[in-house]
Amino acid sequence: MENGSNNFHLIIVAAGKGERAGGPVPKQYAQLGGRTVLRRTIEAFLPLPALASLRVVIAADHHSLYAQATDGLDLPSPIIGGQSRAESVRNGLDALQADANDIVLIHDAARPFIDSDDIRALLSAVGETGAATLGAPVADTLRRDDGHYVDRNGLFAIQTPQAFRLGMLRAALAAQDDLQATDESSIMTAQGVQVTLVPGKRSNFKITTPEDLAMAEALLTARTRFETRSGTGFDVHAFAAEDAEHIRICGLDIPHTRRLDGHSDADVGLHALTDALLGAMALGDIGQHFPPSDPQWKGASSDRFLRHAVDLVQKAGARIVNLDLTLICEAPKIGPHRTAMQAEIARICGLAPHRVSVKATTTERLGFTGRQEGIAAQAIANLELPYDPA
Ligand code: CTP
Ligand code: MG
Repeated sequence: MENGSNNFHLIIVAAGKGERAGGPVPKQYAQLGGRTVLRRTIEAFLPLPALASLRVVIAADHHSLYAQATDGLDLPSPIIGGQSRAESVRNGLDALQADANDIVLIHDAARPFIDSDDIRALLSAVGETGAATLGAPVADTLRRDDGHYVDRNGLFAIQTPQAFRLGMLRAALAAQDDLQATDESSIMTAQGVQVTLVPGKRSNFKITTPEDLAMAEALLTARTRFETRSGTGFDVHAFAAEDAEHIRICGLDIPHTRRLDGHSDADVGLHALTDALLGAMALGDIGQHFPPSDPQWKGASSDRFLRHAVDLVQKAGARIVNLDLTLICEAPKIGPHRTAMQAEIARICGLAPHRVSVKATTTERLGFTGRQEGIAAQAIANLELPYDPA
């Protein structure tokens, strides 16, 4: 534990289902520029020297999502939340080992844009009064659904973190039974406790709807400096000796009398693209990630290799700007399949087809491709990567 008057304990409530936001995972586990919302929220507090302890409250069935989101962070085990936010806060407080005079902050996992200056302002306010919350002035004219307008003058949208002397908060929660209350400052106020309002920033909004997630992504992008990266890939596969009915190129089985030889499905196009992406990230090459000596890749469908490279790009918070692939062969003719190849690569990479180009050329019958001994492919990938001065 640190010394100093501003030390605080932090409980981050992350046990909700995120129903309004929808999406494949609850919003606190949604990716925001390569990191989950929850991780961003946690990392907003970790550098603060006054942070004495941090506990995250999660849903019982989110253990593996939580483990992934906090991978590499040194945190105590999570606390299991309840059916409502209020219950989750209670469970967090029950697990907290601190003195009645200590300051505890309660913060929504769904507010990743909390600003350290606002946390400091909140801490200094709570030091004086024992109860304080952030709130942002309401900017819009307000109307209820019964048609009545509400004067917005002096109105604030209450946010988190909210800060309290632990003893005061415990007493207030013990004395109330409304488990549907959406925050602690309203419970305290209902019991006659004066809660200091600390004006905060509107950027500390609570991600609630799919639109909020999109706004969060946009805000993050606007605050991040990106740099452009390019990577090239080159691959060759020889034709197999025996006759065939199809050849696999760019994820498609194209009618052809010969197929390519290789340990995996020998998809020369996807291999070149995979190497281009790995090259742009400076993360080695396809052989390093999927050694041909490893039996698990025998006959493997190469979309898995490409997808793996795309996952690494996304993990780094990077974005694929475009991919351009040139197939070098006399046969089969690529032209009739070009659009389908573009579409398939775009599908594998989660890109719009206009970001993917597939071209083809012969070598005028010169060299090994000219003699139809094999097919070559070369690719370039352009990425935007968050700028790292290191
Ligand atoms: N929360 C929680 N336990 C609950 C409900 C909510 O810890 N039983 C947390 C959420 O994870 C979120 C914060 O409280 O960080 C604010 O709640 P809200 O925005 O309502 O999130 P959800 O309940 O997850 O979303 P929804 O109401 O749309 O399902
Ligand atoms: Mg909720």
